[in-house]
Amino acid sequence: MKLLSLCLGLTLVWAHEEGNHEVVTSNFDVPKISGEWYTILLGSDVKKRIEENSVMRIFMEHIQGWDNSSLTFKFHVKIDGECIDISGLCDQAAEDGVYNVIYAGFDTFRIVEVVYSDYIIFHLISFNNEQTFQMMALFAREPDVSPKLKKKFVEICQKYGITEENIVDLTKVDRCLHARGRQLSQASSAK
Ligand SMILES: *[C@@H]1O[C@H](CO)[C@@H](O)[C@H](O)[C@H]1NC(C)=O
Repeated sequence: MKLLSLCLGLTLVWAHEEGNHEVVTSNFDVPKISGEWYTILLGSDVKKRIEENSVMRIFMEHIQGWDNSSLTFKFHVKIDGECIDISGLCDQAAEDGVYNVIYAGFDTFRIVEVVYSDYIIFHLISFNNEQTFQMMALFAREPDVSPKLKKKFVEICQKYGITEENIVDLTKVDRCLHARGRQLSQASSAK
């Protein structure tokens, strides 16, 4: 009996671990996206959008996924050496995993895939006066990820026509890590 319950316990642990690492590409469980995230790689067909001093070079800190599928983002951008706190709410559009937001133009973005405990990939199209461009982002729960996952991201970017030269690895630059947590206290003091 003891052995049986031990086996059952192991099966449950195994199933749980399996479930955690499942790649989800539709029917997103948005609240599970909640928590801390780090920007790992960004790619764009207009590279200057993800280079230094661009407002699209975003350093993700935290995402809150609400029961109604809205998302609240907290991230930093670095302009002239200064880390700036930005946060905002995005409501889901009619389609599953698709969001619209006004940020440096009109942006529509979509969750491409997610492993809730590991990483999330977004694809964004930005429409503004200057030029329409697309951007892909890989965010992870930890400050860095495996080379295998980075390679997978590069391949996904290529499917969208973003070449490897147009992908930046932000684990090698200052991602405003020292500014993390800062905006939380500001947000609560503003209430
Ligand atoms: C979804 O829920 C969040 C958090 O309660 C709220 O701020 C937001 O306005 C809601 N969005 C819609 C479309 O109801």
